[in-house]
Amino acid sequence: MKSVILDVDTGIDDALAIAYALNSPELEVIGLTTCFGNGPIEYTTRNTLVILEQLGKRVPVYMGADKPLCRPAKKFPTHVHGDDGLGNQVGRAPFMEAENIGAVDYIISEVKKRPHEITIIAVGPLTNLALAVKKNPEIVSLVKEVVIMGGAVFVKGNVTPYSEANVITDPEAAECVFSSGLPVTVVGLDVTMQTLLPNSTLEDWRASGTDVGQFFADMTSFYMQAYETFNPGIGGCALHDPLAVGVVIDSGFVKKEKWNVKVVLEGEETGRTVAHAEGEPKIQVCTQVEAETFLNHFLGRLF
Ligand code: BDR
Ligand code: CA
Repeated sequence: MKSVILDVDTGIDDALAIAYALNSPELEVIGLTTCFGNGPIEYTTRNTLVILEQLGKRVPVYMGADKPLCRPAKKFPTHVHGDDGLGNQVGRAPFMEAENIGAVDYIISEVKKRPHEITIIAVGPLTNLALAVKKNPEIVSLVKEVVIMGGAVFVKGNVTPYSEANVITDPEAAECVFSSGLPVTVVGLDVTMQTLLPNSTLEDWRASGTDVGQFFADMTSFYMQAYETFNPGIGGCALHDPLAVGVVIDSGFVKKEKWNVKVVLEGEETGRTVAHAEGEPKIQVCTQVEAETFLNHFLGRLF
């Protein structure tokens, strides 16, 4: 069993990733850390607690960064995730609360306590991880593995023609993580745009007759409508964040290539993740995915 810290900016596909991770016996999710991204940090933290309550799970939640390392925050993507970040389904405040320690200090202390044991799955902007590395560079050699959802290495972006949402939200944080020496695997749009959850799935979730099935269907319906608006005829929504979890459960879902990946930090191409032939190829980039095998695995685990 892998010990995992899941760093989220919950977000609809983050919620799906949380459900997938917590229902997978291969993973022991020891903590959820939150970052701003799909909403302000207060929302993404609240949403994480709401999802845990929906799933009937208890995992400690640690609140993290509320803004990028060195840029002003951009507008939140309410057109994709809803005004509340969960397709306008939140309704009430959660009963559970976040822990008193912050995400960055939690990541540092847990990695140092359990050297070479912790896998970090980061599916939001990489601000928490970058802050942890800057505060305590020693952790770089102590983390077992880092799997991130972010970037668009050989394909076009989803925010600009060049950039993917998590990377452009805090490009300096992504560059810091990529150049840190951490053992990073990039699960980017190269593969996540191939793993679509078909629209018809929501009827199955509703037919389950459970509250959680209904909640997840209503929430995901908002995300699917956004996908249809931006990609007419697509027929589903991308399972970005769940695929990062899937790669940790079974790396056989994807094929990887090692590249020297750098992030463009200025100009029109800001946020672009570029694979360079020169320099040390130290980042594992997922380039192919067994989409159907992954989708079936995900669906079998969700509730
Ligand atoms: C990523 O951006 C966010 O909106 C999603 O939650 C995902 O992590 C996809 O580009
Ligand atoms: Ca996310």
